[in-house]
Amino acid sequence: MKNTEILEFIPGQKEIEPEMLAHPAEVIRAGGLVIFPTETVYGLGGNALDPEAAGKIYAAKGRPSDNPLIIHIAFFEEAERYTYTTPLYYRLAETFMPGPLTVILPARPCIPGTVTAGLPTVAVRCPSHPVAHALIAAAGVPIAAPSANLSGSPSPTCCAHVIDDMRGRVDIILNGGDCDIGLESTIVKIEEDESLTLLRPGAITPADLSAVCPRLTVAPAVLGTLAPGERVLSPGMKYKHYAPAVPFSLLDGDASQCAAYLSAQTGEFGVLCYDEDAGALSGIPGCHLFPIGAKSHPETLAHRLFYLLREADKAGLSALYAPLPNPDGLGLALYNRMIRAAAHHIIKL
Ligand code: TXA
Ligand code: MG
Repeated sequence: MKNTEILEFIPGQKEIEPEMLAHPAEVIRAGGLVIFPTETVYGLGGNALDPEAAGKIYAAKGRPSDNPLIIHIAFFEEAERYTYTTPLYYRLAETFMPGPLTVILPARPCIPGTVTAGLPTVAVRCPSHPVAHALIAAAGVPIAAPSANLSGSPSPTCCAHVIDDMRGRVDIILNGGDCDIGLESTIVKIEEDESLTLLRPGAITPADLSAVCPRLTVAPAVLGTLAPGERVLSPGMKYKHYAPAVPFSLLDGDASQCAAYLSAQTGEFGVLCYDEDAGALSGIPGCHLFPIGAKSHPETLAHRLFYLLREADKAGLSALYAPLPNPDGLGLALYNRMIRAAAHHIIKL
């Protein structure tokens, strides 16, 4: 059990300068672990050039070490030092970085096999959050960081949820307030022929990516389960993921069909409820509504999903439900996280 330091760095209260992060940056360089806010979710960081730091990250998360880590850089040009970049990388970087995009490229030999889980490629991301940026710049090394949750549970989007999972397991937690986006970055792989494969959807949507690279393929695992024998392109996609402890199921039907189904349930249960459905779903005996926002405002749904999955878990319910979101635009990322959180348990109404 470590004595975890919790340091306050709420952006907006003051300009964040790299000098202010000198102490956590030193902890990173010395092989320690620092949790930091990003614009997507909180990350659990260690020195990406230190093979032992990666081992500590896997241990703190309880994560299988066959699941590779993203390396975070302060400026997108730094990818040159750690990967073999291509012209498409620069087109993507100039459009979307700093920001919620992770790009997979062939790794240079300086990246330890413990970070790539032995793959020939490495994932790079240049976050836009001022605290993340200042920490990486002050550390002077790339920071390997998965989401700062215990393996399998929803990614933390606020400091309280980080503390629930990670106090005592890391050296420092930087409290940067609530994460803006609330879902992890979009992950794309640059293929040898300079086409793109979308491995994990996020706030940068397929339409955004196609505007830069029209040759975009969405990996089949993004929308569904793996076909038997199908190869997993992004190792993280094969685990049950983002799951609350309470049994979670998705309802495939309109608001009145959902209301009829929920009215037939017994005990105390919860529903992630869109504003548009609140009228149809209120007043059902035993049913606790967790307002997630308006379907017409998918940014709010993304911002609240992981937060609500964790809060619903604390409410002592016997089951949790959510109507399936529309998999369009940012909705694709919501749909992708929800089907994993529900371990593909979809009830057709
Ligand atoms: O928004 C984010 O991306 C957050 C913040 C902290 O930056 N990070 C994050 O990391 O979500 P993590 O480790 O929870 O998810 C990274 C995903 C995993 O599914 C992993 O399998 C995949 O990226 N990945 C990493 N390196 C890869 C590679 N070389 N090839 C394919 N997939 C890779
Ligand atoms: Mg994760």
